[in-house]
Amino acid sequence: MWKAVVTAAVALALLLCQSSSLDNGLARTPPMGWLAWERFRCNVDCVDDPYNCISEHLFMQMADRLAEDGWKDAGYDHITIDDCWMSMERDDQGNLYANKTRFPNGIKKLADYVHSKGLKLGIYLDFGTHTCGGYPGSIKYLQQDAETIAGWGIDLLKMDGCYANVSDMSWGYPDMEQYMNKTGRPILFSCSWPAYAGGIKVDYSSLEKHCNMWRNYDDIQDSWDSVTGIIDWYGDNQNILAPAAGPGHWNDPDMLIVGDYSLSYEESKAQMAMWAILAAPLFMSNDLRSISAEARSILMNKEVIRISQDSLGMQGRRIIKDKTMVETWVKPLMSPDTHAVAFLNRRADGMPYNHTLTLGSLNFSSSTGYEVVDVYTSRRYGHFNLDAKLTVSIDPHAVVFVMLYPAK
Ligand SMILES: *[C@@H]1O[C@H](CO)[C@@H](O)[C@H](O)[C@H]1NC(C)=O
Ligand SMILES: *[C@@H]1O[C@H](CO)[C@@H](O)[C@H](O)[C@H]1NC(C)=O
Ligand SMILES: *[C@@H]1O[C@H](CO)[C@@H](O)[C@H](O)[C@H]1NC(C)=O
Ligand SMILES: *[C@@H]1O[C@H](CO)[C@@H](O)[C@H](O)[C@H]1NC(C)=O
Ligand SMILES: *[C@@H]1O[C@H](CO)[C@@H](O)[C@H](O)[C@H]1NC(C)=O
Repeated sequence: MWKAVVTAAVALALLLCQSSSLDNGLARTPPMGWLAWERFRCNVDCVDDPYNCISEHLFMQMADRLAEDGWKDAGYDHITIDDCWMSMERDDQGNLYANKTRFPNGIKKLADYVHSKGLKLGIYLDFGTHTCGGYPGSIKYLQQDAETIAGWGIDLLKMDGCYANVSDMSWGYPDMEQYMNKTGRPILFSCSWPAYAGGIKVDYSSLEKHCNMWRNYDDIQDSWDSVTGIIDWYGDNQNILAPAAGPGHWNDPDMLIVGDYSLSYEESKAQMAMWAILAAPLFMSNDLRSISAEARSILMNKEVIRISQDSLGMQGRRIIKDKTMVETWVKPLMSPDTHAVAFLNRRADGMPYNHTLTLGSLNFSSSTGYEVVDVYTSRRYGHFNLDAKLTVSIDPHAVVFVMLYPAK
């Protein structure tokens, strides 16, 4: 009898817990894929720059690369259009349609093509009166636009927030989620709402109910300063942000810029490691037609992806930030007492820095100690009791990324 009551209570708790987040079955682990914006922007000049302009050719070529070069098999299965795909006006019925010069076959055909490669297609709308690039906004057409994209076979919607009142977002984004739900097509919903509402001044429980992922902070740019600015913001606000993340609903620190112009090899490894620690969606924005083998090896690293996609879905936290300028970030994983730990070197003094610590000082507590293994190199540091000194040598602007497994 007592047992039955307890079981019922647990079942009810589970039910309540589940119904508090968006129930479209999507994004149970951080979504992965490719997104046009950071690398290709709003380049609509298909006359002088046909190879790089926002057009169906670009998306078909990237879909080919995702499918044929191993990216899809590694988990990168979404390809997402950003701004500047639309015609400047809606049609006579108020429907959105793609620019006919640059997308002569239309979005439905592009979706068919992408699906034929085993990939999913994402698209971009804006909640306000116009997109950031000045194309038609959705505020007066939310239901119609939800039906349009569902009819095309779209699998992901990134909804931006330019030219909108922030106060309208708390009803508008939920309305859009409801309209998409009513179409019957599961569409992963990426919301820019908190990024426009000051990042932390939003109701995160409402976000979890209506969005699968959300941008909280500034757009990423092609620089190490931009990457570290984002990391700092996530660390500084982690008490609000980390509890909001979990299976089906994720904070989005924006695209991976690994393979672009600015990051060094070590900085690239650091971005990838930190995005895994943060349980961030992994959307690359780079040119997959010419990416280096080095960048590819970082983005395809199986161990890092495994950490990112861990089923516990917990966003990691910065547990130490002090005068050494080596930050310690920890993400607990599903397997009991197993952790991914990133030591992020923010120093710029030009030489590798030996960082020495004990696992006990980080409050890890396995009485048998831990096996420590480097994520990128598979190097075994060995077995460490809680009071044993562990030294990691970290290059400037770099990360040492390790796994801690409780020792038998
Ligand atoms: C719509 O919402 C209901 C209730 O949350 C859910 O069961 C259903 O799977 C959703 N459908 C789609 C297509 O997202
Ligand atoms: C389509 O895009 C081109 C630029 O590539 C632009 O010149 C043209 O005006 C656009 N057409 C419409 C209908 O928006
Ligand atoms: C924001 O709200 C004000 C006041 O209601 C309105 O005048 C303005 O047009 C709105 N702006 C946008 C971009 O919707
Ligand atoms: C860092 O540690 C390594 C290995 O113990 C050692 O060879 C190296 O000299 C140390 N570097 C500095 C700057 O102390
Ligand atoms: C470890 O726990 C102690 C006591 O709760 C706390 O003061 C300290 O900040 C913790 N250290 C870390 C690295 O979390």
